[in-house]
Amino acid sequence: MAISDEDINKVREATDIVALFSERVPLRQRGREYWCCCPFHNEKTPSCKIDPSTQLWHCFGCGEGGDAFGFVMKADDLSFPDAIRYLADRAHVDIHETGATRMPQSRKARLRKVCEATDEFYHAQLMRGKSKEAAAARSYLSGRNFGGDVPKKWHLGFAPGRQALVRHLSSLSFAPDEMIDANVAVQRDGGRINDRFYNRVMFPINDPQGECIAFGGRVIGDGEPKYLNSQETPLFHKSNVLYGLDKAKKAMAASGIAIVVEGYTDVIALHENGIENAVATLGTALTIQHVRLISKHASKRIVYLFDGDAAGQRAADRALGFINEDMTPEAGKARVELCAVTLPDDLDPADFVAKRGADELTTLVQGAKPLVLYGIDRRLSKHDLSSAEGRTRALTDALSVLAPIKSSLLAKDYAVQLASRLQMREADVLDALARTQAPRAYRENDEGSTGNESESGAIVTELSESEKNRRKFERRLLSLLAQNPERALQNADVLAQTQWRGAVNAQLAETILGVLAEKQDVSAANLISRVADTMPRAAGSLTSASLSDGESLDEAIAFLVEELEIGDIENSLSLMNAQMKHADNMSQEERDIMFMSIVQMQKSLAAKRATHQPRV
Ligand code: UTP
Ligand code: MN
Repeated sequence: MAISDEDINKVREATDIVALFSERVPLRQRGREYWCCCPFHNEKTPSCKIDPSTQLWHCFGCGEGGDAFGFVMKADDLSFPDAIRYLADRAHVDIHETGATRMPQSRKARLRKVCEATDEFYHAQLMRGKSKEAAAARSYLSGRNFGGDVPKKWHLGFAPGRQALVRHLSSLSFAPDEMIDANVAVQRDGGRINDRFYNRVMFPINDPQGECIAFGGRVIGDGEPKYLNSQETPLFHKSNVLYGLDKAKKAMAASGIAIVVEGYTDVIALHENGIENAVATLGTALTIQHVRLISKHASKRIVYLFDGDAAGQRAADRALGFINEDMTPEAGKARVELCAVTLPDDLDPADFVAKRGADELTTLVQGAKPLVLYGIDRRLSKHDLSSAEGRTRALTDALSVLAPIKSSLLAKDYAVQLASRLQMREADVLDALARTQAPRAYRENDEGSTGNESESGAIVTELSESEKNRRKFERRLLSLLAQNPERALQNADVLAQTQWRGAVNAQLAETILGVLAEKQDVSAANLISRVADTMPRAAGSLTSASLSDGESLDEAIAFLVEELEIGDIENSLSLMNAQMKHADNMSQEERDIMFMSIVQMQKSLAAKRATHQPRV
């Protein structure tokens, strides 16, 4: 879609959802909220709420909900871009100004020309620039083993800044708004325009055909931000672009294998060391669009290489979100296999090839594990497997990796392996796997009422009352947090650590965290629409929770957090109790320790329960 996030936000800010609704349906005010009869189903008493503070709406009758864009999309049967155009028009926001809407092909071609000319200019500056800054850029690169013909091959550049690029592009008759739209220049407060990149080494980012569409710029030496990348432009959407793909696609097709790393410099270092099937994401996690794009070239396997540092480890955890039923043999489709490996000793791929050579890296890549196994091993490694208690926790943690595929034979195979690794009975582990909640395709009333077949074909069994309640609490907490992003940020630990029973809830929590990781000061409407980008039905459920009269947001959240925590403890306890029943493969000492910790947990559970009550 050719409308920039910036433009979308402009339109969002200019639109008042209450006014929008009131143009179409009679509204009634109740407290600070507005209510109407739902425009999407027949009703006599209003069950559709419009909340001016979050700019969200939700119908408690049919479960629909979302932001202003979602409302007009549904009400007028419009596509997302058309909804933006409609609301832009209505609010008199000119989204043509900074480019973007209904960008004619000729306009995009023009922006490509801007990128091409910029690329040439930066490259010439690096190769032939006379300033001492340009010389410093050259020696910085050669000091990092990127001398010789590397700058030429990768068309690296140097951005002098100080309007040098703007002057150059003007001399080639490019207009200021074209430079701004291509995001190589910026305009501050309506004043004069200036180069976006200043005193940086430039990495041109190409489309798969090798045409430049964006840039990454690195400071020379130390400084913040280390990398400055092009923002989203009509040409460039970082969630579906991979650095180096134009150069890697040949080697990918030949071997069927793709290697995904985190940094530009990693890609260059790998290619220069003969590993030419490597690409990098652009400072974001791998997305499903990336996977689709890669699998056009690499048919067999994608190996995700995570840096050994903390950031790399967070990326690894996010990647486990890719585990789903499509990966199981039962899905039948010959899909590209996702594998993962973490580099040792805090190294990134560039450091690794420099220190240990390409052969060792190739060996590491060949040893990459399928993502499911990688995930299980990762979870197990976080626990102390020498104690029975540690093993129990490890089991719960590892099974959560399998939850999205729990009814598959693959999951059962892994469960059996887990049993032997954790010295538990197969039957117990399979039992625990069965109790880990099966995922269902995302549906409106996911709290689980029927024994129906899910869209993905897995049988969904009737959930117990307490299980249904648990899911309702989960969903309510997620909804309250999504509507109050600053609370979501404060409760990031809860989002990350809760043992979500509903697979969709787990995915919602993960996705919310992903959005927050990218942008901390996101608005509620923005957060929810970002989540709905990957989970189309999420808008309805994330807008569903509201506070009752006199209920405070913080108390409601605190109650739910406690509720879920208690549930998680109960779950661990029942697992441990089950293990105590079959304690024959434990030593006396282990049994004692386990018994003690059960008692301990029961005590703290009792204490928590005693003070736990809804505070209205
Ligand atoms: P790294 O910090 O691992 O950098 O970030 P690197 O690629 O190894 O770079 P060198 O070797 O220190 O020069 C990995 C990627 O994350 C994005 C960039 O895409 C980078 O290549 N990133 C990193 C940013 O977008 N902004 C930053 O400030 C840092
Ligand atoms: Mn790195």
